[in-house]
Amino acid sequence: MGINARLERSIVNRQADYSTNGKTGGKLAVLLPGLGAVGTTFIAGAIAARRGLGAPIGSLTQLGRMPVSADAPDAMPPRIKDVVGLAELDDLVFGGWDIFEDNCYEAACNAGVLTRDFLAPLQEELEAIRPMKAVFDPAFVRNITGPNVKKYKTKMDAAEALVADIERFMAQNGCARAVGVWCGSTEVFVDVEPVHASLKAFEAGLRGNDDAISPTMIYAYAHIKAGVPFINSAPNRALNTPALVEMAEQYGVPFAGHDLKTGQTLMKTILAPGIASRQLGVSGWYSTNILGNRDGLVLDDPGSFKTKEESKLSVLDSIFRPDQNPQLYGDMHHKVRIDYYPPRGDAKEGWDNIDIFGWMGYPMQIKVNFLCRDSILAAPLVLDLALLADLAQRKGQSGNQTWLSYYFKSPQADPGEGVVHALMAQERMLFTQLRILADADVSVDHPWDPAILPNTDSRELRSDR
Ligand SMILES: NC(=O)c1ccc[n+]([C@@H]2O[C@H](COP(=O)([O-])OP(=O)(O)OC[C@H]3O[C@@H](n4cnc5c(N)ncnc54)[C@H](O)[C@@H]3O)[C@@H](O)[C@H]2O)c1
Repeated sequence: MGINARLERSIVNRQADYSTNGKTGGKLAVLLPGLGAVGTTFIAGAIAARRGLGAPIGSLTQLGRMPVSADAPDAMPPRIKDVVGLAELDDLVFGGWDIFEDNCYEAACNAGVLTRDFLAPLQEELEAIRPMKAVFDPAFVRNITGPNVKKYKTKMDAAEALVADIERFMAQNGCARAVGVWCGSTEVFVDVEPVHASLKAFEAGLRGNDDAISPTMIYAYAHIKAGVPFINSAPNRALNTPALVEMAEQYGVPFAGHDLKTGQTLMKTILAPGIASRQLGVSGWYSTNILGNRDGLVLDDPGSFKTKEESKLSVLDSIFRPDQNPQLYGDMHHKVRIDYYPPRGDAKEGWDNIDIFGWMGYPMQIKVNFLCRDSILAAPLVLDLALLADLAQRKGQSGNQTWLSYYFKSPQADPGEGVVHALMAQERMLFTQLRILADADVSVDHPWDPAILPNTDSRELRSDR
């Protein structure tokens, strides 16, 4: 059967899904620990999009189409959301936690990403979204403090309070399902300690207030306990601990992370694969950013910056493979800086200087100056991840969802597997999995084999003719 025919059939299957098991119907709670710049930009934008007041640009789930045109070049490929059956924007109910008491409208105004003119028609709906009290520990985020925090004796009490919040929110809002997307601050770097080694050790650590258990881990634990998928938009350590991976698998809950791939790293993972493809050498890649929002303030603390730095540095090695190409990349200097510079607010500016060399070793330079809006790039990723995590859950997936690597700066690999950073390779992983989720009959030898992927799919296209 041709690809288009299979996709058509999967649209029918998806409709059957709606009518038979009812699991894709009903409201979906989207719960965000952290209602700051990213969280409020996402919520306000999603509400605006469903009212037709703005376009969800940057969102693959809303605008993207399945890449199936090669065997029918003139046909309009179907939209992803029509093929795989995603929750509709109208079915989303937004909630979250923050250490500040500001409602979502006030927080969006303070974040200063979206203009007050844009927010005005949304004001009433945004004001109704009030943050639940947060689980917060100043040892993990040192540069901010706020009044809207839970009091608890043990970290286990905190986790149980979060489970109760999730259940109460779902009941009060008539939600059939929920997803959690961490949009809170970057925490200080945490090593994997014995307390993270197994679920048993972790639960003992929660009861004993172990210092190495961070708020992000407590939120992740609570979501899994409530049977709710959890996405980590920050570089914070959470589900990349054996304990929480074990728990997610045991409870049958999908998760993905870490750290949204938005500005500079997005550019890196677009450019670097091209440089590598041309067999050009790189002697240095110097990246610097100025950022003036609250995220920038938090990252001004060396502990939080180290977490971010680890996340950003991992990217180039996996694309250039200096172990395989020592002549081209064996002596590459990679440096990343972020400077807090309040006048810029959320309008981040990134500079990259790339020292490359070509034929006979002659040096050249590439300069990239990206004047981006951090949260404008991040918001559509939060939407996509919420909808795709819900899809994964409905399709019975659990544990680490590596096919969502496309969205992350520091994607989590499965044990013994390499991390894929190159954006187009990540896109192929994503589409392969979408096809598998859309139509269980799509048989693949190895899901990430580029030979069977949609936009390089010579083998399958041949067999379709
Ligand atoms: N903006 C981007 O493009 C981008 C890209 C990748 C990753 N991120 C990450 O996303 C996260 C959010 O970024 P942002 O720009 O919205 O930052 P922000 O500072 O505007 O918002 C974070 C919010 O989290 C709250 N918070 C902190 N600890 C909390 C806790 N324990 N529980 C509940 N709330 C808590 C803070 O009060 C704040 O309101 C950061 O970790 C950032 O590094 C952002």
